[in-house]
Amino acid sequence: MSILCRAATGKSTKGNPLVFRLAHLSDPHLGPLPLMHSFREFALKRLIGGLSWQLKRRWRHYKDFADLIADDIKAQSPDHIAFTGDLVNIAAGYEFENGIKWMEKLANADAITFVPGNHDAYVTRPYAGGLEHLEPYMQGNMRTPKPVLVLGGTASFPFVRLKRNVALIALSTAVPQPLSSACGVLGEAQLDTLSEVLPDLHAKGYARIILIHHPPLAHQAPANRNLSDATELSRVLQQHGAELVLHGHNHTRTLEYLPSRNGEIPISGAPSASMKSIGLRTSAGWTMFSLEREQGRWQIAGQDYSLNAKTLKVEAGDPYKVSRE
Ligand SMILES: [Fe+2]
Ligand SMILES: [Fe+2]
Repeated sequence: MSILCRAATGKSTKGNPLVFRLAHLSDPHLGPLPLMHSFREFALKRLIGGLSWQLKRRWRHYKDFADLIADDIKAQSPDHIAFTGDLVNIAAGYEFENGIKWMEKLANADAITFVPGNHDAYVTRPYAGGLEHLEPYMQGNMRTPKPVLVLGGTASFPFVRLKRNVALIALSTAVPQPLSSACGVLGEAQLDTLSEVLPDLHAKGYARIILIHHPPLAHQAPANRNLSDATELSRVLQQHGAELVLHGHNHTRTLEYLPSRNGEIPISGAPSASMKSIGLRTSAGWTMFSLEREQGRWQIAGQDYSLNAKTLKVEAGDPYKVSRE
């Protein structure tokens, strides 16, 4: 019986050693953000970002919502958590200190794989006291060719974490941007390494799950907030395949497919983990993916969890099939 059928018949996949349960969350943009912190570590972009928080973001992103989402994920005890960035807002030291406390309550560093978002690299800042806090969550356990040190630190990308028969492939798109840009960049070296790692992991039978903050397809974000080398990434994915791509940044649930040599690649976008539903933006939530290898192929099912802002309860959606034949 497939994992989707099991979920639909109410039988949980929890504790089933054949099913790997991967939780995906993104973009909590943890606050609050007192304006004085924007002055304390002064940078013009940070000051404007601090003002933007006071005027706009604090009415959209609620730390209490992020806490409820984290509690719900913990209660479901996934095998692993994929976190696709934008932990903070203006990359101030104070935000990273608070953010890491939130992450430590969620799970230990071995149980969360983190990739940084544009807000985690909002301005050029020292690695120490900033992204350094997240380094334990940005460590692989497989050697990769040509790893690239990013953001002036000692964490290198892509890194690969092997968990049972699942390979989490973490890419960094976080590069400090000019004032009006929220773009991301992978760069040639990360793309080259990805081209080598994907066929190798496929040959060994791993489910290849790519974690990236920015949406990977060129049409998924406007020019001032997209992935600059999305076309090059699509070329690599189409050539080598992947079982699933998880991203954040748009604060909206999406599921698209990219044709590849190994079949269609599901590309799943997460909502913000702290957001009140506004317009097209989805309310705070997360997704559980269940992965199982059946007759030599990976089958993936998804189930969305969304916060009801009135009842403050997290509600489960219907399970759905993610992988396509
Ligand atoms: Fe975000
Ligand atoms: Fe973002």
